Amino acid sequence: MHESILVFRRYRYLWAATALTIVCLLAYWIHDPQEPPNGGTVLGYTLGTFGALMIVWLTWFGVRKRRYSSTAGTLQGWLSAHVYFGIALFVIVLLHAGFQVGWNIHTLAFALMTLVIVSGMYGVFIYLKYPERLSENRDGSSRSELLDQLDDIDRRSRRVAENLPNEYQDFVTSGIQRTELGSTLWQRLRNEDRSRIQIPNQAETILNPGQEAAMDWLAEQQSRADANSAATIAELSALLRNKRKLLRQVGADLKLQAGIEIWLYAHVPLTAALLMALIAHILTVFLYW
Ligand code: HEM
Ligand code: HEM
Repeated sequence: MHESILVFRRYRYLWAATALTIVCLLAYWIHDPQEPPNGGTVLGYTLGTFGALMIVWLTWFGVRKRRYSSTAGTLQGWLSAHVYFGIALFVIVLLHAGFQVGWNIHTLAFALMTLVIVSGMYGVFIYLKYPERLSENRDGSSRSELLDQLDDIDRRSRRVAENLPNEYQDFVTSGIQRTELGSTLWQRLRNEDRSRIQIPNQAETILNPGQEAAMDWLAEQQSRADANSAATIAELSALLRNKRKLLRQVGADLKLQAGIEIWLYAHVPLTAALLMALIAHILTVFLYW
Protein backbone atom coordinates (compact mmCIF):
# COMPACT_ATOMS: atom_id res chain seq x y z
CA MET A 1 0.00 0.00 0.00
CA HIS A 2 1.44 3.40 -0.86
CA GLU A 3 0.51 6.99 -1.58
CA SER A 4 -1.51 6.09 -4.65
CA ILE A 5 -4.50 4.94 -2.59
CA LEU A 6 -5.25 8.58 -1.82
CA VAL A 7 -4.54 9.75 -5.37
CA PHE A 8 -6.11 6.67 -7.00
CA ARG A 9 -7.29 7.45 -10.59
CA ARG A 10 -6.79 11.17 -10.11
CA TYR A 11 -8.73 11.42 -6.88
CA ARG A 12 -11.78 9.72 -8.41
CA TYR A 13 -13.27 8.77 -5.04
CA LEU A 14 -12.40 12.05 -3.39
CA TRP A 15 -14.52 13.79 -6.03
CA ALA A 16 -17.29 11.20 -5.80
CA ALA A 17 -17.46 11.42 -2.01
CA THR A 18 -17.39 15.23 -2.11
CA ALA A 19 -20.21 15.25 -4.66
CA LEU A 20 -22.28 12.91 -2.49
CA THR A 21 -21.70 15.12 0.55
CA ILE A 22 -22.75 18.23 -1.37
CA VAL A 23 -25.96 16.53 -2.59
CA CYS A 24 -26.83 15.57 1.00
CA LEU A 25 -26.06 19.10 2.27
CA LEU A 26 -28.30 20.57 -0.46
CA ALA A 27 -31.10 18.17 0.42
CA TYR A 28 -30.77 19.17 4.07
CA TRP A 29 -30.83 22.84 3.15
CA ILE A 30 -33.85 22.54 0.83
CA HIS A 31 -35.86 20.12 2.98
CA ASP A 32 -38.42 21.84 5.20
CA PRO A 33 -39.68 19.24 7.70
CA GLN A 34 -42.03 21.63 9.66
CA GLU A 35 -40.11 20.64 12.82
CA PRO A 36 -36.51 20.85 13.91
CA PRO A 37 -34.45 18.61 11.61
CA ASN A 38 -33.96 15.17 13.20
CA GLY A 39 -33.61 11.47 12.40
CA GLY A 40 -37.40 10.99 12.32
CA THR A 41 -38.25 13.21 9.33
CA VAL A 42 -38.50 11.88 5.77
CA LEU A 43 -35.06 13.17 4.98
CA GLY A 44 -33.85 11.92 8.38
CA TYR A 45 -35.00 8.39 7.59
CA THR A 46 -33.56 8.55 4.09
CA LEU A 47 -30.14 9.73 5.25
CA GLY A 48 -30.17 7.27 8.18
CA THR A 49 -30.92 4.33 5.88
CA PHE A 50 -28.27 5.51 3.50
CA GLY A 51 -25.74 5.87 6.33
CA ALA A 52 -26.53 2.37 7.62
CA LEU A 53 -26.06 0.91 4.12
CA MET A 54 -22.74 2.72 3.82
CA ILE A 55 -21.59 1.22 7.13
CA VAL A 56 -22.50 -2.27 5.90
CA TRP A 57 -20.60 -1.59 2.68
CA LEU A 58 -17.54 -0.24 4.56
CA THR A 59 -17.55 -3.32 6.77
CA TRP A 60 -17.76 -5.49 3.66
CA PHE A 61 -14.28 -4.27 2.81
CA GLY A 62 -12.90 -6.74 5.36
CA VAL A 63 -14.47 -9.56 3.37
CA ARG A 64 -13.54 -8.11 0.01
CA LYS A 65 -9.92 -7.77 1.13
CA ARG A 66 -9.60 -11.50 1.58
CA ARG A 67 -11.11 -12.50 -1.76
CA TYR A 68 -8.15 -12.27 -4.03
CA SER A 69 -9.92 -13.93 -6.93
CA SER A 70 -12.79 -11.42 -7.07
CA THR A 71 -12.92 -9.28 -10.18
CA ALA A 72 -15.07 -6.49 -8.71
CA GLY A 73 -12.48 -3.70 -8.89
CA THR A 74 -8.91 -3.58 -7.61
CA LEU A 75 -8.15 -3.69 -3.92
CA GLN A 76 -6.48 -0.29 -4.18
CA GLY A 77 -9.59 1.21 -5.72
CA TRP A 78 -11.73 -0.30 -2.98
CA LEU A 79 -9.50 1.08 -0.26
CA SER A 80 -9.44 4.51 -1.88
CA ALA A 81 -13.25 4.51 -1.98
CA HIS A 82 -13.38 3.12 1.57
CA VAL A 83 -11.31 6.02 2.89
CA TYR A 84 -13.19 8.86 1.17
CA PHE A 85 -16.74 7.51 1.60
CA GLY A 86 -15.86 6.60 5.19
CA ILE A 87 -15.14 10.26 5.86
CA ALA A 88 -18.24 11.46 3.94
CA LEU A 89 -20.31 9.15 6.16
CA PHE A 90 -19.54 11.39 9.12
CA VAL A 91 -21.29 14.38 7.53
CA ILE A 92 -24.21 12.29 6.26
CA VAL A 93 -24.92 10.91 9.73
CA LEU A 94 -24.70 14.38 11.30
CA LEU A 95 -27.32 15.56 8.78
CA HIS A 96 -29.42 12.47 9.52
CA ALA A 97 -29.49 13.35 13.22
CA GLY A 98 -30.12 17.04 12.46
CA PHE A 99 -26.98 17.74 14.51
CA GLN A 100 -28.80 16.56 17.62
CA VAL A 101 -26.32 14.45 19.50
CA GLY A 102 -27.30 13.96 23.14
CA TRP A 103 -26.42 11.28 25.68
CA ASN A 104 -28.36 8.24 24.47
CA ILE A 105 -28.11 4.95 22.61
CA HIS A 106 -28.25 6.77 19.25
CA THR A 107 -25.24 8.83 20.21
CA LEU A 108 -23.38 5.68 21.25
CA ALA A 109 -23.60 4.54 17.62
CA PHE A 110 -22.43 7.96 16.53
CA ALA A 111 -19.51 8.01 18.97
CA LEU A 112 -18.37 4.54 17.89
CA MET A 113 -18.65 5.52 14.25
CA THR A 114 -16.49 8.57 14.92
CA LEU A 115 -13.87 6.40 16.62
CA VAL A 116 -13.84 3.99 13.67
CA ILE A 117 -13.35 6.90 11.28
CA VAL A 118 -10.60 8.51 13.36
CA SER A 119 -8.81 5.17 13.76
CA GLY A 120 -9.11 4.72 9.99
CA MET A 121 -7.40 8.06 9.40
CA TYR A 122 -4.63 7.08 11.77
CA GLY A 123 -4.34 3.78 9.87
CA VAL A 124 -3.89 5.52 6.53
CA PHE A 125 -1.29 7.81 8.09
CA ILE A 126 0.70 4.96 9.57
CA TYR A 127 0.48 2.79 6.43
CA LEU A 128 1.77 5.61 4.29
CA LYS A 129 4.57 6.40 6.72
CA TYR A 130 5.51 2.89 7.75
CA PRO A 131 7.58 1.42 4.89
CA GLU A 132 9.94 4.36 4.52
CA ARG A 133 10.37 5.05 8.24
CA LEU A 134 11.07 1.43 8.90
CA SER A 135 13.88 1.17 6.38
CA GLU A 136 15.29 4.57 7.37
CA ASN A 137 15.67 3.37 10.92
CA ARG A 138 17.20 0.05 9.93
CA ASP A 139 19.76 1.62 7.58
CA GLY A 140 18.43 -0.80 5.01
CA SER A 141 18.91 -3.98 7.05
CA SER A 142 16.06 -6.21 8.14
CA ARG A 143 15.14 -6.85 11.75
CA SER A 144 16.57 -10.36 11.74
CA GLU A 145 19.87 -8.94 10.54
CA LEU A 146 19.81 -6.49 13.44
CA LEU A 147 19.14 -9.35 15.84
CA ASP A 148 21.99 -11.37 14.29
CA GLN A 149 24.31 -8.43 14.86
CA LEU A 150 23.17 -8.28 18.49
CA ASP A 151 23.94 -11.99 18.88
CA ASP A 152 27.34 -11.42 17.38
CA ILE A 153 28.14 -8.64 19.85
CA ASP A 154 27.02 -10.81 22.77
CA ARG A 155 29.26 -13.64 21.60
CA ARG A 156 32.24 -11.33 21.23
CA SER A 157 31.62 -9.80 24.68
CA ARG A 158 31.69 -13.25 26.26
CA ARG A 159 34.94 -14.02 24.49
CA VAL A 160 36.57 -10.76 25.62
CA ALA A 161 35.37 -11.32 29.21
CA GLU A 162 37.21 -14.67 29.29
CA ASN A 163 40.45 -12.69 29.51
CA LEU A 164 39.25 -11.01 32.70
CA PRO A 165 38.44 -12.31 36.23
CA ASN A 166 35.34 -14.46 36.77
CA GLU A 167 33.18 -11.62 38.01
CA TYR A 168 33.36 -10.03 34.54
CA GLN A 169 32.10 -13.20 32.91
CA ASP A 170 29.13 -13.33 35.30
CA PHE A 171 28.54 -9.63 34.70
CA VAL A 172 28.49 -10.05 30.90
CA THR A 173 26.29 -13.16 31.06
CA SER A 174 23.74 -11.49 33.35
CA GLY A 175 23.62 -8.44 31.05
CA ILE A 176 22.92 -10.68 28.06
CA GLN A 177 20.31 -12.79 29.81
CA ARG A 178 18.46 -9.77 31.13
CA THR A 179 18.40 -7.76 27.92
CA GLU A 180 14.71 -7.22 27.27
CA LEU A 181 13.21 -5.93 24.06
CA GLY A 182 9.63 -4.83 24.83
CA SER A 183 7.83 -8.08 25.59
CA THR A 184 4.36 -6.51 25.69
CA LEU A 185 2.73 -4.42 22.99
CA TRP A 186 2.56 -1.50 25.42
CA GLN A 187 6.29 -1.64 26.14
CA ARG A 188 7.08 -1.80 22.43
CA LEU A 189 4.81 1.17 21.80
CA ARG A 190 6.58 3.21 24.49
CA ASN A 191 9.96 1.95 23.34
CA GLU A 192 10.87 1.11 26.90
CA ASP A 193 14.18 -0.64 27.53
CA ARG A 194 13.58 -2.72 30.66
CA SER A 195 16.90 -4.56 30.51
CA ARG A 196 18.56 -5.33 33.85
CA ILE A 197 22.00 -6.45 35.00
CA GLN A 198 23.65 -7.96 38.04
CA ILE A 199 26.56 -5.73 39.06
CA PRO A 200 29.26 -7.73 40.94
CA ASN A 201 29.01 -7.44 44.74
CA GLN A 202 25.53 -5.95 44.65
CA ALA A 203 22.58 -7.80 46.16
CA GLU A 204 19.95 -7.08 43.52
CA THR A 205 19.88 -6.74 39.74
CA ILE A 206 19.48 -3.14 38.60
CA LEU A 207 17.86 -1.49 35.58
CA ASN A 208 20.22 -1.19 32.64
CA PRO A 209 18.45 0.87 29.96
CA GLY A 210 20.71 1.60 27.00
CA GLN A 211 23.36 -0.54 28.77
CA GLU A 212 24.14 2.60 30.85
CA ALA A 213 24.55 0.88 34.20
CA ALA A 214 26.90 -1.69 32.66
CA MET A 215 29.03 0.95 30.98
CA ASP A 216 29.22 3.03 34.16
CA TRP A 217 30.48 0.06 36.13
CA LEU A 218 33.05 -0.80 33.46
CA ALA A 219 34.31 2.80 33.39
CA GLU A 220 34.81 2.68 37.14
CA GLN A 221 36.74 -0.60 36.94
CA GLN A 222 38.79 0.66 34.04
CA SER A 223 40.03 3.66 36.03
CA ARG A 224 41.37 1.32 38.72
CA ALA A 225 42.73 -1.50 36.57
CA ASP A 226 46.31 -2.06 35.40
CA ALA A 227 47.16 -1.14 31.80
CA ASN A 228 46.61 -4.64 30.47
CA SER A 229 43.16 -5.23 31.97
CA ALA A 230 42.15 -1.62 31.23
CA ALA A 231 42.61 -2.26 27.51
CA THR A 232 40.43 -5.37 27.69
CA ILE A 233 37.76 -3.53 29.69
CA ALA A 234 37.80 -0.73 27.11
CA GLU A 235 37.20 -3.35 24.44
CA LEU A 236 34.18 -4.61 26.37
CA SER A 237 32.85 -1.04 26.74
CA ALA A 238 33.17 -0.47 23.00
CA LEU A 239 31.12 -3.61 22.34
CA LEU A 240 28.43 -2.41 24.74
CA ARG A 241 28.30 0.95 22.98
CA ASN A 242 27.61 -0.87 19.74
CA LYS A 243 25.01 -2.95 21.49
CA ARG A 244 23.30 0.19 22.74
CA LYS A 245 23.08 1.57 19.20
CA LEU A 246 21.59 -1.68 17.92
CA LEU A 247 19.12 -1.91 20.80
CA ARG A 248 17.91 1.59 19.98
CA GLN A 249 17.38 0.63 16.34
CA VAL A 250 15.51 -2.56 17.21
CA GLY A 251 13.44 -0.64 19.79
CA ALA A 252 12.43 2.02 17.26
CA ASP A 253 11.64 -0.70 14.73
CA LEU A 254 9.40 -2.55 17.20
CA LYS A 255 7.71 0.73 18.11
CA LEU A 256 6.75 1.43 14.51
CA GLN A 257 5.35 -2.03 14.10
CA ALA A 258 3.45 -1.81 17.39
CA GLY A 259 1.85 1.38 16.01
CA ILE A 260 0.47 -0.66 13.14
CA GLU A 261 -0.72 -3.50 15.33
CA ILE A 262 -2.52 -1.16 17.67
CA TRP A 263 -4.45 0.48 14.87
CA LEU A 264 -5.79 -2.83 13.63
CA TYR A 265 -6.72 -3.72 17.21
CA ALA A 266 -8.80 -0.54 17.22
CA HIS A 267 -10.40 -0.31 13.78
CA VAL A 268 -11.83 -3.81 13.50
CA PRO A 269 -13.28 -4.39 17.01
CA LEU A 270 -14.67 -0.84 17.02
CA THR A 271 -16.43 -1.71 13.76
CA ALA A 272 -18.00 -4.73 15.45
CA ALA A 273 -19.14 -2.56 18.38
CA LEU A 274 -20.52 0.02 15.95
CA LEU A 275 -22.64 -2.61 14.17
CA MET A 276 -24.11 -3.72 17.53
CA ALA A 277 -24.90 -0.16 18.59
CA LEU A 278 -26.40 0.55 15.17
CA ILE A 279 -28.73 -2.45 15.42
CA ALA A 280 -29.73 -1.27 18.91
CA HIS A 281 -30.35 2.23 17.54
CA ILE A 282 -32.56 1.04 14.71
CA LEU A 283 -34.46 -1.41 16.94
CA THR A 284 -35.17 1.21 19.65
CA VAL A 285 -36.29 3.67 17.01
CA PHE A 286 -38.78 1.21 15.52
CA LEU A 287 -39.97 -0.03 18.91
CA TYR A 288 -40.42 3.32 20.62
CA TRP A 289 -40.85 5.93 17.91
C1 HEM B 1 -31.83 2.44 8.96
C2 HEM B 1 -31.08 3.38 9.49
C3 HEM B 1 -31.53 4.39 10.52
C4 HEM B 1 -32.77 4.72 10.98
C5 HEM B 1 -34.13 4.15 10.57
C6 HEM B 1 -32.59 5.76 11.96
C7 HEM B 1 -33.61 6.41 12.64
C8 HEM B 1 -33.48 7.45 13.50
C9 HEM B 1 -34.54 8.19 14.12
C10 HEM B 1 -36.03 7.92 13.93
C11 HEM B 1 -33.99 9.14 14.90
C12 HEM B 1 -34.71 10.17 15.76
C13 HEM B 1 -34.71 9.69 17.17
C14 HEM B 1 -34.85 10.79 18.20
O1 HEM B 1 -34.74 11.97 17.82
O2 HEM B 1 -34.94 10.44 19.38
C15 HEM B 1 -32.57 9.02 14.79
C16 HEM B 1 -31.65 9.82 15.45
C17 HEM B 1 -30.31 9.62 15.44
N1 HEM B 1 -29.60 8.67 14.71
FE1 HEM B 1 -30.42 7.35 13.42
N2 HEM B 1 -31.25 6.02 12.11
C18 HEM B 1 -30.57 5.19 11.24
C19 HEM B 1 -29.20 5.16 11.08
C20 HEM B 1 -28.31 5.85 11.85
C21 HEM B 1 -26.86 5.74 11.73
C22 HEM B 1 -26.12 4.92 10.69
C23 HEM B 1 -26.32 6.50 12.73
C24 HEM B 1 -24.87 6.68 13.08
C25 HEM B 1 -24.05 5.74 13.36
C26 HEM B 1 -27.40 7.13 13.43
C27 HEM B 1 -27.26 8.01 14.48
C28 HEM B 1 -28.27 8.77 15.02
C29 HEM B 1 -28.09 9.84 15.98
C30 HEM B 1 -26.76 10.30 16.58
C31 HEM B 1 -29.37 10.39 16.24
C32 HEM B 1 -29.70 11.59 17.13
C33 HEM B 1 -30.19 11.15 18.46
C34 HEM B 1 -30.63 12.33 19.29
O3 HEM B 1 -31.59 13.02 18.90
O4 HEM B 1 -30.07 12.54 20.36
N3 HEM B 1 -28.58 6.70 12.88
N4 HEM B 1 -32.27 7.98 13.93
C1 HEM C 1 -17.66 3.68 9.89
C2 HEM C 1 -16.77 3.66 8.95
C3 HEM C 1 -15.80 2.51 8.70
C4 HEM C 1 -15.97 1.16 8.88
C5 HEM C 1 -17.22 0.44 9.38
C6 HEM C 1 -14.73 0.52 8.51
C7 HEM C 1 -14.50 -0.84 8.56
C8 HEM C 1 -13.36 -1.46 8.10
C9 HEM C 1 -13.15 -2.88 8.04
C10 HEM C 1 -14.13 -3.93 8.53
C11 HEM C 1 -11.92 -3.09 7.49
C12 HEM C 1 -11.27 -4.42 7.20
C13 HEM C 1 -10.18 -4.68 8.21
C14 HEM C 1 -9.66 -6.06 8.14
O1 HEM C 1 -10.47 -6.99 8.02
O2 HEM C 1 -8.44 -6.23 8.22
C15 HEM C 1 -11.34 -1.81 7.23
C16 HEM C 1 -10.08 -1.61 6.70
C17 HEM C 1 -9.50 -0.38 6.55
N1 HEM C 1 -10.06 0.84 6.87
FE1 HEM C 1 -11.92 1.16 7.50
N2 HEM C 1 -13.84 1.49 8.12
C18 HEM C 1 -14.46 2.71 8.21
C19 HEM C 1 -13.91 3.94 7.93
C20 HEM C 1 -12.60 4.14 7.54
C21 HEM C 1 -12.02 5.43 7.30
C22 HEM C 1 -12.75 6.77 7.40
C23 HEM C 1 -10.72 5.21 6.96
C24 HEM C 1 -9.62 6.18 6.60
C25 HEM C 1 -9.72 7.49 6.58
C26 HEM C 1 -10.48 3.77 6.99
C27 HEM C 1 -9.29 3.15 6.72
C28 HEM C 1 -9.12 1.80 6.58
C29 HEM C 1 -7.92 1.18 6.09
C30 HEM C 1 -6.62 1.90 5.69
C31 HEM C 1 -8.14 -0.19 6.05
C32 HEM C 1 -7.21 -1.24 5.49
C33 HEM C 1 -6.57 -2.10 6.48
C34 HEM C 1 -5.69 -3.14 5.80
O3 HEM C 1 -5.80 -3.36 4.60
O4 HEM C 1 -4.91 -3.73 6.53
N3 HEM C 1 -11.65 3.16 7.36
N4 HEM C 1 -12.24 -0.83 7.60
